[in-house]
Amino acid sequence: MRLVTTVGELQMWADAQRAAGRRIALVPTMGALHAGHRALCDEARRRADVVVVSIFVNPTQFDQSADLEQYPRPLESDLETCRGAGVDAVFTPGVGELYPEGSQTWVEVTEVSRPLEGRSRPGHFRGVATVVSKLFLAAKPHVAVFGEKDYQQLAVIRRMVRDLGFDVEIAGHPIVREADGLALSSRNVHLDAEMRRQALVLSRALDAAERAVSGGEREVRRILHAVALELGKAPLLELDYAELRDPETFDVVSGEIPGPTLLALAARLRKPDGPPRATVRLIDNRVLQPPTRSEE
Ligand code: PAJ
Repeated sequence: MRLVTTVGELQMWADAQRAAGRRIALVPTMGALHAGHRALCDEARRRADVVVVSIFVNPTQFDQSADLEQYPRPLESDLETCRGAGVDAVFTPGVGELYPEGSQTWVEVTEVSRPLEGRSRPGHFRGVATVVSKLFLAAKPHVAVFGEKDYQQLAVIRRMVRDLGFDVEIAGHPIVREADGLALSSRNVHLDAEMRRQALVLSRALDAAERAVSGGEREVRRILHAVALELGKAPLLELDYAELRDPETFDVVSGEIPGPTLLALAARLRKPDGPPRATVRLIDNRVLQPPTRSEE
């Protein structure tokens, strides 16, 4: 497995792969790799001849410096995970490599970035779109794989690729969960046993909404009520948002859901005995599929 730290070296590697007629897949990550990332690598392997994983904790997408500082960085075990997944190259640039001294160029996807995560984390998607553009220019992939765990991020990237004409296919991968339903996340390592137990209400709330909708419920108010009932069972949870939105435009859905609808959740879990600011922020989502009128 090749370890690469500079943009120039990665571009040369990519040029050589392309010259040899090999298809390149890129899996962008911030490290602290888990089975969700591993699944993206396996998907990348199915879609290409060579796989490059980037591991870069991108400072420009963090709106809170404490979150950036706390972000786990277990590089050695990440490299082990990549080796185990048969990854061909790992790109671990320093901050100065992707943001040269005096950097002032940004990529901003406007509308899709505004609600949900964009509203809660100002500047977040500008950082994501900018760094992913840089990674595309460095790794020259034919295909890049992203998780649906970050549903809005995937939509931002798809919009960016269309708008800028990047010659990169974007592949989405379903959310990978623990056996009990908790979505895998690099931030889960910060959960103690009680927080971990209470974090389960997020996926349970998605299940409750899904049950309601497959049982014929279409009213937004009632679906969100089923969600609130589940979330209310976790006293350590502070809800950021629970919203139903069009899965493509991200417009708010009101009244009745007309068809497939994104249910997006974000919440902070408080540490039971920690200082008030010691929280872990988790997100989860599901696209709810109402039965067609003829199935009802
Ligand atoms: P990170 O949070 O490390 O996630 C890297 C990729 O793994 C993203 O595409 C994310 O959606 C996916 N992922 C994370 N948890 C997952 C899960 N449980 N199931 C399926 N996929 C999962 O997302 C980022 O990094 C950054 O914003 C990045 C795109 C690398 C830009 O800095």
